[in-house]
Amino acid sequence: MSDKKKLRSSEWFGNNDKMGFVHRSWLRNQGYPDDYFRGKPVIGICNTWSELTPCNGHLRDFAEVVKRGVVESGGFPLEFPVMSLGETIMKPSTMLFRNLASMDTEESIRANPLDGIVLLTGCDKTTPSTIMGACSVDLPTIVVPGGPMLNGRFRGGKIGSGSFNWMIKEKQKTGEYTEADFAEAEACAARSIGHCNTMGTASTMGTMSEALGLTLPGFSSIPAADSRKKMFAQLSGRRIVDMVREDLTLSKILTRKAFENAIITNAAVGGSTNLIIHLTAIAGRIGVDLNLEDFDKIGSNIPLLLNLMPSGKHLMEDFFYAGGLPVIMKELNNILHSDIITVNGKTFNENYADAICYDQDVIFTKDKPLQENAGIAVLKGNICENGAVIKPSAASPRLMKHRGKAVVFESMEDYHERIDLPDLDIDENSVIVLKGVGPKGYPGMPEVGNVDLPEKLLLKGVKDMVRISDGRMSGTAYGTVILHVSPESTVGGNFALIKNGDYIELDVENRKLHLDISDEELKKRQSEWKPSEPIATRGYARMYIDHVEQADKGADLDFLVGGSGSKVERDLH
Ligand code: FES
Ligand code: MG
Repeated sequence: MSDKKKLRSSEWFGNNDKMGFVHRSWLRNQGYPDDYFRGKPVIGICNTWSELTPCNGHLRDFAEVVKRGVVESGGFPLEFPVMSLGETIMKPSTMLFRNLASMDTEESIRANPLDGIVLLTGCDKTTPSTIMGACSVDLPTIVVPGGPMLNGRFRGGKIGSGSFNWMIKEKQKTGEYTEADFAEAEACAARSIGHCNTMGTASTMGTMSEALGLTLPGFSSIPAADSRKKMFAQLSGRRIVDMVREDLTLSKILTRKAFENAIITNAAVGGSTNLIIHLTAIAGRIGVDLNLEDFDKIGSNIPLLLNLMPSGKHLMEDFFYAGGLPVIMKELNNILHSDIITVNGKTFNENYADAICYDQDVIFTKDKPLQENAGIAVLKGNICENGAVIKPSAASPRLMKHRGKAVVFESMEDYHERIDLPDLDIDENSVIVLKGVGPKGYPGMPEVGNVDLPEKLLLKGVKDMVRISDGRMSGTAYGTVILHVSPESTVGGNFALIKNGDYIELDVENRKLHLDISDEELKKRQSEWKPSEPIATRGYARMYIDHVEQADKGADLDFLVGGSGSKVERDLH
């Protein structure tokens, strides 16, 4: 920061009047000396630690390490908690609460005497929610990604978080694993601190943070249990103090080019479809124009370079040993905008020029990629007027062009009731249609899009079928799954009008998803459609239903889009 620019925190601590006394005096009960209030940048350490969020369980320790770095650089660290979102436990879906956690983050930052922010993140939604909130305030901000768990190991093989779950029903039904086998696998899957070790949503969000320029270079792929993770946390603490002095705010880093870099990188690592919804919401907060088509335009022709589950076979720990994200960033050098600045004040080019790949079975080159054209494809058609998405690297090539008869489930409960009925009229060519799982409908757009196949088909050895829904799918999942259908069925998009036995045509190459009925029939069904009563009548869920935007817009609440800056006009007395 230039000498002339006053610290924001001096509005609280810098006055020698009654309020200055109040702001300093109470805080001094924690033992801070007077000079802490006299010109040191105050760094808010925004912590998503919670014992109910297993993936973030180590962040309490990490905050202490960050504080060490802040103090070393002459800053004054103050840690504060925000709502934490644990993917494996919270019902009905952490996505319902992403926007609430972002409000918590935004207001906690703005209302307090903070000059710079460190976001301690980990499990899926804890990254986008805190970044969204921080964007709406726009102070200098750095992300500390909590890091993945070590590889799961089970009977000599690797077991990836999440990706293994999707095989459980199959393995139970076919009798391949006993109950004891499952109990053993359970303990083997999560054997260290950290978040999912696949390229699921948490690893995708860590990667996104780095690709946006919001972490120190190389930070996101380090496993949580590796001592270098803590070292980077400390260095982040040191760096944020300088960022305050340089007035390097979020909006200076998060330009349109940074978002394009995140889309390109996500395609190259085979990242989660959830990136779309979170990145769009983050762009909305910082005021960058980004739409669903951009993901296809910018990302779909990018080659897949990373051989990680669910698109490939390795795990995050292997990625780190192979050189980590720096290798990917260097490989993408001519495709990325490499000249833009990141939190360390240097460009992508400068940050990643020296990266070396140590394992070519984990990280491929763009000349010999694992797969060509791996990014997310955006589909359009008469049942997804505002778009739907599919992740080709996780889908079956033979189903990318497909015509099949719809088997329609009106809700998740309807699906559970009927999917395994022996007389359900369904075969491997059918298209499973799941309605009522969109942002307003569930509410909260849960990760249910990759529904299990019917038992009778699993027993026949069927591994994949086309599934379409207005929900999301876990970043650890795979299959020919079409997601994020917009508008969702609950608001009366044409997706709501599909009936059992209708024919649906999927053509990924031509980006088409079409319901094969006449326009007259479609019009007739539209005129007969009636909205159902909202599921929630009060509280946050009701507010969410009333204000949540559709998936193609990032599913933010309409009144949260944009920002209010860091200024607070009125005092507390
Ligand atoms: Fe937390 Fe996967 S469940 S990251
Ligand atoms: Mg998830």
